[in-house]
Amino acid sequence: MKQFDKHINRQETNCIKYDAIEKRFQVSKDTKPMWIADMDFEVPKFILHDLEKVLQTKVMGYPHITKAVFNSIQFWQKEKYSIEIEKKHIHLMPSVLSSIACCISALSQKDDEVIIQIPVYPPFYDIVKLNNRVLIENKLKKVNDKYEMDFKDLKKKISKKTKLLILCNPHNPIGRSWNKKELQKLSLICKQNNIIIISDEIHSDICFTSFYSMLDIKECENNCVVLNSPTKSFNLAGIKIAYTLCKNEYINSILHKEIKKRYIDELNIFAPIAIKSAYSKKGLIYIQQLTLYLEKNCTFTYEYFNIHLPKLIVIHNEATYLIWLDFSKFELSHNRIFNKLTNEAKVLLNDGKSFAKKEGEKCFRINVALPFDELKISLKNIVKAFS
Ligand SMILES: Cc1ncc(COP(=O)(O)O)c(C=O)c1O
Repeated sequence: MKQFDKHINRQETNCIKYDAIEKRFQVSKDTKPMWIADMDFEVPKFILHDLEKVLQTKVMGYPHITKAVFNSIQFWQKEKYSIEIEKKHIHLMPSVLSSIACCISALSQKDDEVIIQIPVYPPFYDIVKLNNRVLIENKLKKVNDKYEMDFKDLKKKISKKTKLLILCNPHNPIGRSWNKKELQKLSLICKQNNIIIISDEIHSDICFTSFYSMLDIKECENNCVVLNSPTKSFNLAGIKIAYTLCKNEYINSILHKEIKKRYIDELNIFAPIAIKSAYSKKGLIYIQQLTLYLEKNCTFTYEYFNIHLPKLIVIHNEATYLIWLDFSKFELSHNRIFNKLTNEAKVLLNDGKSFAKKEGEKCFRINVALPFDELKISLKNIVKAFS
């Protein structure tokens, strides 16, 4: 697929992935960034075309958010996930993280407990603590190099003060798209204990197996807030657009008040255009093509390491372009692994310790959303550095 094979030069384009690495990680400029979750692919032409029309107006005043924006979200949720959602149950937001922060302050009190399932996307830790809630860690368990939810541990961790659980589905960094049985069990435990599930589904569009939204789970439909965005799947993270979905009138109204109070539902001028353009019939076709390409990159990574670096444990991802690599069998210190990756293989991956301090010590997360030819070079360099 030509559109994904194209090499794009992102150096000096004000992007954090390339332009911040020397200062932030003390690595040389020629290190290949395979860390933060954005893709080295151009935004699809049909979206660029619509965004160019905004520039052509030559005025960047306040945007008018029309019903068409909500229609596009309803279209996407229906077409992709068979979810019917009313307009009043959708709130536009600038990002998924600001939506989580809003959910935490709207749906819990100071010193209440919030559960996260680790290893997990690092801001989940801070967002709970910075909002003055108590962070409770429910560790995922590794069974035959696959991660599963540990329900026994979860039940033990729940107390009267536990009010929220932040779910990551599909899960970053271990790549699970949680199955229906797991989600039903989780929902039941949360419901029995009056815990609301905040379901971060930002990675749902790129899935190599079935995906079940929390709104798909009967036991949870009324006990969750789903957060999603087109920014991961269409490479629009710099545009800042996300939304919340909540079918429970009471929870939705409290959340709505919090959003209004903070004035954070005001979007930039590109955001409504970007989401309308992405969440369309063209967008559906694009995601199909992208998913095929990324699945090929993921499978290649898995097989290449299995053949050429069998000591490396590669966690099979069912979704996303992020793969969790476990270097524990190499018996190297964390710093030594990091140095080998950055100085010898010349690749920059995300440090596993930021996803889970202890369990992630010998792990790194690799981003494989880049042209296949570039991926092959990086993987070869990693194999050489560890052989
Ligand atoms: C699971 C997860 N949630 C949220 C985000 C960030 O989303 P946003 O930029 O909309 O805050 C990311 C980005 O990588 C992510 O992986």
